[in-house]
Amino acid sequence: MKELNIGLCGLGTVGSGVFDVLSSNSRIMFEKSLCEINIVHIATRSDNHKCDVGDVQYSKDVFQVAKDPNVDLVVELIGGTDVAFELVMLAISNKKHVVTANKALIAESGSIILEAARNANVNVAFEASVGGGIPVLKSIREGLVANKINWLAGIINGTTNFILSEMSIKKTAFGVVLTEAQSKGYAEADPTFDVEGVDAAQKLAILASLSFGIPLSVSEFFVEGVTNILLEDITFAKELGFTVKHIGICRETNGSLEARVHPALIPYSSLLAHVNGVSNAVMVNSDAADTTLFYGPGAGSKATASSVIADIIDVAKAPESPCFSSLGYPIDRLKRKDIINIEDIDCGFYIRFIARDKAGVLSELTTTMAEASVSIESIIQRDHASKIDHVNVVIQTNKIKYSALDPVLKKIKKLENVLDDIVLIRVENLDQ
Ligand SMILES: NC(=O)c1ccc[n+]([C@@H]2O[C@H](COP(=O)([O-])OP(=O)(O)OC[C@H]3O[C@@H](n4cnc5c(N)ncnc54)[C@H](OP(=O)(O)O)[C@@H]3O)[C@@H](O)[C@H]2O)c1
Repeated sequence: MKELNIGLCGLGTVGSGVFDVLSSNSRIMFEKSLCEINIVHIATRSDNHKCDVGDVQYSKDVFQVAKDPNVDLVVELIGGTDVAFELVMLAISNKKHVVTANKALIAESGSIILEAARNANVNVAFEASVGGGIPVLKSIREGLVANKINWLAGIINGTTNFILSEMSIKKTAFGVVLTEAQSKGYAEADPTFDVEGVDAAQKLAILASLSFGIPLSVSEFFVEGVTNILLEDITFAKELGFTVKHIGICRETNGSLEARVHPALIPYSSLLAHVNGVSNAVMVNSDAADTTLFYGPGAGSKATASSVIADIIDVAKAPESPCFSSLGYPIDRLKRKDIINIEDIDCGFYIRFIARDKAGVLSELTTTMAEASVSIESIIQRDHASKIDHVNVVIQTNKIKYSALDPVLKKIKKLENVLDDIVLIRVENLDQ
């Protein structure tokens, strides 16, 4: 039998879930792993706990946990990147293993943390940092170890997926759904990190490092949020056979990588198109296993605790082994790859603008596009809901680089009968 003493830092949504699941499922976990997990020290900032800590040693200073000689493993669930970084580094320097759910910390400082862990011969694991309760990192790292990964695409932010799904199902505008998401606890009071794509980019950085052996960093990624998505674009996308999703994509082409997070039209034929609400999913295409999909709850108290505890048990099973790299690749073997500029990536585009409802407008537009060799897949013209004598023109292009499309869009904007700004959303036929 193996025993591991853990110190739990943070007793909020995830921390209380870890406390509860470790208590309620201790028997089944022991039967499966023959490991006894004991919570020996807990630290939070205030006494306002979501659960009764009983007679477990309690501190208001998380650093006491990292210094406690009884603690073998520190579980960092306080969030943020300042105190959390100091806590994790102190734990490592005191030769304690670390488990965290903190994607911001890992995306920002993961290289430093993993290097320190390697030198101290301890483990740092972060399954819960991507996809909440979905064991996606372990699946890629271990289940797909035999494969060269070609690409991955994921819906990795539950808040934006909830917003886009609700806009589509209830035909409600972005602002209204965001307020609903906040009242249900699916969005923070300040939702910026989620709706601007920062959270998804941090998770993509972890997935990219794990899948393509690159150092953890988001600095060169293309990141666009969902704040400009309008209900009418979701409706027109449906008419074309697509749903609008916020996705993270990483694809290797000739040794270089696409790494991008943005809204995209996904065809209904793709499994990702059917991932709704706060659910997450990551689709991975690799040379031997082909396309696999990992789907489930992207957040939540017990679901995320499930991933945190899986990491704890992995460490408990093999605490004496040399540091396994949670990235799959040994930390000193990670190699930078060129990140392809978003303007040079081929993809389809959804283009919408308002034009005067006059004879010859459509032919003027299609001629402008044909002259620039922009190939059109579909075109829709519909009366504008409120502007009399105006129409919405929606064009879906075939694959083209943004750098080639941009001059055409500039020409279209200058046409006498075209009004307002042009809406542009990428189209991703993932399976092709
Ligand atoms: N929520 C999810 O579903 C989810 C899913 C995946 C990953 N995560 C990640 O898990 C981590 C925790 O998220 P959460 O939702 O559980 O956060 P949370 O509900 O806000 O809980 C944070 C906990 O940490 C404590 N804390 C914060 N700063 C502290 C400090 N300086 N010293 C001591 N205690 C401190 C808080 O104590 P007080 O309450 O006393 O301030 C609270 O107990 C984050 O990194 C998050 O990104 C969360």
